[in-house]
Amino acid sequence: MEQPILSGLTAYNTEGCYPWHMPGHKRRLNTIFPDIVENPFLIDVTEVGDLDEFHDPHGIILEAMDRAKEVYGSHKSYYLVNGSTCGVMAALSAVCRPGDKLIVARNCHKSVYNAMRLLQLKPIYIMPEWNEELGMFGGVSPELVKKTMKQHTDVRCVMLVSPTYEGVVSDVEKIAKLAHKVGIPLIVDEAHGAHFEFMSNVNETISTTNYKNIPDPAIRLGADIVIESLHKTLPAMTQCAILHEKSNLVDTERLEEYLSIYQSTSPSYVFLATMEACIEKMNYERDGLFIIYKELLSEYRKRFAQLTHIHLVEENDFKKQSAYGYDDGKLVFSVKGCGYEQDGQMVRMTGTKLGTVLQEEYGQMMEMAGGNYVIAMTSIADSKEAFEALYQAMESIDERLMDLEKSVDTSLYRTLPEHKMNIAEAREHKRQDVPFEDAIGRISGDYIYVYPPGIPIVTPGEVISLGVMQEMKAAMVSNLNIKGITFDQKGKAFVNVIRENRWLSRIQRR
Ligand SMILES: Cc1ncc(COP(=O)(O)O)c(C=O)c1O
Repeated sequence: MEQPILSGLTAYNTEGCYPWHMPGHKRRLNTIFPDIVENPFLIDVTEVGDLDEFHDPHGIILEAMDRAKEVYGSHKSYYLVNGSTCGVMAALSAVCRPGDKLIVARNCHKSVYNAMRLLQLKPIYIMPEWNEELGMFGGVSPELVKKTMKQHTDVRCVMLVSPTYEGVVSDVEKIAKLAHKVGIPLIVDEAHGAHFEFMSNVNETISTTNYKNIPDPAIRLGADIVIESLHKTLPAMTQCAILHEKSNLVDTERLEEYLSIYQSTSPSYVFLATMEACIEKMNYERDGLFIIYKELLSEYRKRFAQLTHIHLVEENDFKKQSAYGYDDGKLVFSVKGCGYEQDGQMVRMTGTKLGTVLQEEYGQMMEMAGGNYVIAMTSIADSKEAFEALYQAMESIDERLMDLEKSVDTSLYRTLPEHKMNIAEAREHKRQDVPFEDAIGRISGDYIYVYPPGIPIVTPGEVISLGVMQEMKAAMVSNLNIKGITFDQKGKAFVNVIRENRWLSRIQRR
């Protein structure tokens, strides 16, 4: 009997790498929740008897969701069994009508782009500020939101991601006020900030250390709809997420209708029961659990910050990039400007290489490794021993590194490609694959992005400029996991573009 998935999982567990990645329970759910049954099949039932209905809850599911809304201070909180993905899509579908304009941060997740495609929305992109030193996005400036709203008075909502994958938090409170001034809602994808509620609000007097506080959750700062992946930063199972609504600008009937459309009609009660356990546990034990976690983060962030070559990304790094706050739970290690000796030659260190060394030589598996940095995702399930092992690994690698001249940041993520058609229009258009070099000046038929995190370099309907080409080349040279470029058997690269009338386009280009 062949079971490739189980075999893969067993092999991964046997390898014994420490998981600095999602899910936040770090596969220690049973020790964190001793009251959850050993055998998950025992609670894997369906909507029978008194077990309520997920899409029209009146019983135990409603009771659990009502408890959640008390914890988060929302008007309504909805358990999600298809991740934040379905929450983001339902939020946009509820707020926008097909063909609407919206202001959207360019660094949003794929679910935002997919919703925009399905609803044929017209995005007005705003660029978060780019940190050239680190090669990553900072926050979205409220001033830019204000200016964009002045230029586009007919937008239906503002859509942001905060915190970013790298932990940068935008000024949600200010942006929410700006949006409300013109009567539109703010939707915040807080997929990476499910711990904010519990971590920002603990009884400080119990603590013995002085640690920096974590930003407040967006739902307490005026956002209208907030979506959080419980499974990313809290001890919950993969796919478990929650959507909070607190607004008089959102039609909750529409929201509930779309939540129903985008989610399974057979919700997993294993997910529902473990989500409930997670929220209850985090709420009741927040002081104990999160003070220990914050103290550990504080201790180890100080030590990581003292490494000679590897740079631990801090809130201070984003002072110029409109960062309102930073999630200290994200350990982002940059190796920009670092090198190492190999066969008598100095080689530039990359995030990809750092990730490989950490995994293969030290058994430390990162959430993401690419470009110039790696991301370690932490949670309350990480012990002091785990932090210490990561520190020892980083210290030992740091000793092998040297400083190189910092390479010029050629990233063009900070500029928007020229927009020719909407995503839906481009995907429905006749398209063709052309050799990579011939794609310049053509309209992209697909998303091209590095995964993770999945922020598009170009979306369907945007022009593949020289800058876009350079960005793609840089990603390929760095061996990043680039999506949207296909390779034939000889390794020749192809890009999907809008099929054009060649005769007409030749004249147009002249
Ligand atoms: C910023 C952001 N939003 C939304 C999502 C989707 O979350 P989920 O995996 O819970 O569907 C992700 C997933 O990685 C993400 O990074």
